[in-house]
Amino acid sequence: MTAKYRVVVVGMGKRGMHHAQAFHANGRFEVAGVCDIDPARLDAAAAKFGAAKGIKALQFALEVRPDVFCFCTLPRLRSEMIRVAIESGARLVAFEKPIALNSREGMEIRKLLTESGVKAVVSHQHRYGEHYRRVKEIIASGALGRVHTVYGTASGWMMHMMSHLIDYIRWYNGEAAAQWVMAQAAGRGKLSDLHPSPDYIAGFIQFANSVRGIVECGAGAPDVPEVDYWWRKCRIGAQGTDGFAEVLTGGGWRAVTKTGASAGGGCMNYDLDMPPYVQEIADWLDDDGKVHSCNFESAYAGFEIMMALCRSAATGGQVALPLTGAEDEVELLRVHLAERRALLSTPVNAKEYGAESEEPKLLVAR
Ligand SMILES: NC(=O)c1ccc[n+]([C@@H]2O[C@H](COP(=O)([O-])OP(=O)(O)OC[C@H]3O[C@@H](n4cnc5c(N)ncnc54)[C@H](O)[C@@H]3O)[C@@H](O)[C@H]2O)c1
Repeated sequence: MTAKYRVVVVGMGKRGMHHAQAFHANGRFEVAGVCDIDPARLDAAAAKFGAAKGIKALQFALEVRPDVFCFCTLPRLRSEMIRVAIESGARLVAFEKPIALNSREGMEIRKLLTESGVKAVVSHQHRYGEHYRRVKEIIASGALGRVHTVYGTASGWMMHMMSHLIDYIRWYNGEAAAQWVMAQAAGRGKLSDLHPSPDYIAGFIQFANSVRGIVECGAGAPDVPEVDYWWRKCRIGAQGTDGFAEVLTGGGWRAVTKTGASAGGGCMNYDLDMPPYVQEIADWLDDDGKVHSCNFESAYAGFEIMMALCRSAATGGQVALPLTGAEDEVELLRVHLAERRALLSTPVNAKEYGAESEEPKLLVAR
């Protein structure tokens, strides 16, 4: 019998529990340890998975010596945990999006991973949704003709949603490199959130294969009226010379091609998306040639695009990729974003982005 890969999971909140559950359910892994600074969460997780428990990630990881170090902490904790993963001797680190809150930390993480040779994956697990995959299949089949545009919109704010959108449009566009971006942003409300973001950001991406990317997140992003659940109001797709195909995170897929219109179901579901994500971790550990679909380098390319969009929104004009020089993009936005509120695209967004100003009310009343 093949030995099981031993996993430590740090941060036993929503996503830590999802990860631990998926590792636990997969015969190739053993959840050897769980770690959280919250004693109640820690005890519950340790009991559920029959795992050792620890409060201090470094000390605990050095004791357990896992093959896989997984952390699902909030975005302000990233490079510190990557260091712990490397020090612990883990062969692979699995962590949550966004990679970091600014390019300075993102570049540092990339350097640490490159120099250590530790494999890394970032959780853009929507890729495994049946509706997401159906759209990918249609695009890859050539049924859209020559793809010229890929697009993604989400009602949720940037640090939550944009790394997902960019990851999936990059996937739909064959992971082509980006050459430059240009963006605008509005609204300072979510700059003080734990996922700090402008309330609204919209931008263009020029890909090296001449495909145009268009992304929008937040208060002014178009509603997805087909989907009720607010966090799943995401529309991601591709247009080509012969048609289009798109997925709605909470509402299936649809396509129009030369042969006619088609549609199908599917809804984002952690219980369905996490098992194949975790299985690919085993496959990559078993075989260096079986690189994980959500590998760090791919996610980093998307992260870099997001940071470039922030730079453009903060200081104007086009921003060339790959990025040169480290910045704190959230700080740039804090310095440069106007005090004006973001205008809403739909009254439904008022709950998150506020409805107090004159401008959104006027817009809604029309
Ligand atoms: N991929 C997805 O679909 C998806 C969905 C939701 C959230 N996320 C991302 O997952 C990450 C975590 O989100 P969440 O909703 O699970 O957060 P959460 O707040 O539910 O969980 C975070 C946990 O980390 C613990 N923690 C904080 N500091 C710690 C430390 N130093 N050592 C150990 N534990 C520590 C907290 O006590 C908490 O239990 C975020 O980056 C978020 O953007 C991804």
